[in-house]
Amino acid sequence: MCFTSVTDRWPGAQWPERASPVPPTGALARGRAAALDSTVVDLELRPIVPDEFRAFSRAVEAAFGQQPTDVEIDLWRDVTEFERTIAAFDDDGIVGTAGAFTMQLTLPGGATIPVAGVTAVSVATSHRRRGLLSAMMRRQLDDVAARGEPVAVLTASESVIYGRFGYGLATSFLSTRIAQPNGGLAQPLSEPGRCRRVDVDEAGIVLPDIYDRYRVTQPGEVSRPDAWWHQRLTDHEPWREGASAYFHVVHDDEGGRPDGYLTYRVRGHWTGSHLPGATVEVDELCASTPNARRALWRHALSIDLAAAVTAFNVPVDEALRWELADPRRLEVTALSDHLWARLLDVPAALSARAYAVPGRVVLDVADQFRPGGPADGRFVLDTGPDGVQCRPTEEPADLTMAVADLGALYLGGTTATTLARAGRVRERRPGALDEADLLFGTALAPFCVTHF
Ligand SMILES: CC(C)(COP(=O)(O)OP(=O)(O)OC[C@H]1O[C@@H](n2cnc3c(N)ncnc32)[C@H](O)[C@@H]1OP(=O)(O)O)[C@@H](O)C(=O)NCCC(=O)NCCS
Repeated sequence: MCFTSVTDRWPGAQWPERASPVPPTGALARGRAAALDSTVVDLELRPIVPDEFRAFSRAVEAAFGQQPTDVEIDLWRDVTEFERTIAAFDDDGIVGTAGAFTMQLTLPGGATIPVAGVTAVSVATSHRRRGLLSAMMRRQLDDVAARGEPVAVLTASESVIYGRFGYGLATSFLSTRIAQPNGGLAQPLSEPGRCRRVDVDEAGIVLPDIYDRYRVTQPGEVSRPDAWWHQRLTDHEPWREGASAYFHVVHDDEGGRPDGYLTYRVRGHWTGSHLPGATVEVDELCASTPNARRALWRHALSIDLAAAVTAFNVPVDEALRWELADPRRLEVTALSDHLWARLLDVPAALSARAYAVPGRVVLDVADQFRPGGPADGRFVLDTGPDGVQCRPTEEPADLTMAVADLGALYLGGTTATTLARAGRVRERRPGALDEADLLFGTALAPFCVTHF
């Protein structure tokens, strides 16, 4: 579920003024949205208190065309950071929602930074297209900036929504299907180790630890709070959509230390002529070593009675294709955007990551949604022998771009050249695109397995 937020573009009305920055305690200032038109009166924007969570959750789910069960409401309550919620109230109750998780994001080079993981964004069907999302977005980004988080990230229900607020398409994923897998790998595993099934109790102990070791090896991954794991491992029956409950398989290295896991479901099927036709649906495969990753894929591809193995969310540079004895069997069924990144403080964000080569580039960045802020202006990025530095400058620009485009470049998910070919980035000094491509490029494509 994607929890989200509101703005200041109500036709015929204005917000009283730009929402004041929220104090670092995190408490959102109370505010009143001005009337959006003559029929809709003041909307109060404020965080919810725990007693309001049921109404908040129902508002979110209704916007997604769903009605939450009591179990779902309890599970979402556990992961909700109440002081980071925003609800818009009218006389009938909550008509807009947004929230954020306090997360760590892994950057190229392995550093992690605090980010806001935006979630629970919704606007009631009765209030859509009047600027409520825009108002919540403004409020939320002010809060994120006041907390000192240099970047906000989100996963979007629709890719058309968030560019206007400065978010850029930062990571993508593939959905894949392998028919008749039959074991599949061309080479034997190079190192010893073993795969073993674990029950949900052991999964609750072992998986979070493996995930934490894995996520710092993968740019684009985010941290998960304990309550998030509880929600996931509860494996609420309606979320299975007719498939089995989760199976969890852990890989132990030679010394018996868990270093990877596979979580999958089985969608059972027998053909009309009584042949096995099940589908193994890989939900997550996370490993902190290449050997564990290969062993877990081999395990997934060797499950009896399966006619196909599908995976909803794998990296765009998934190495499995080069491991399969018959690589054409790996069919890509979808390519989708996943993590959208919004830089709020360009010097802080750019100096936190590592760069592939020494270099120097001057970026002119336009932040139309937060003009005059620390993501709006000209910045020099220097990755020379004295370490990475990024600061405002008056020097002539080498490249010009919107802040959303810098968000797209940030994790190495695309190149400046590609964005220039898309008409988004402009080269002001010949050669600057090539230099930026080398600087921002990463060996591993950024990837995020977490949906939030
Ligand atoms: C997406 C959603 C939150 C938008 O809320 P909203 O209050 O209608 O958005 P706003 O009125 O602030 O829209 C601001 C701008 O974005 C555009 N926009 C917003 N949502 C859009 C969408 N789904 N498709 C196309 N354009 C959209 C608006 O047309 C408007 O454009 P403009 O500036 O050119 O006039 C709302 O439609 C919703 O709840 N959808 C279902 C749940 C959902 O998808 N939530 C997002 C989860 S990530």
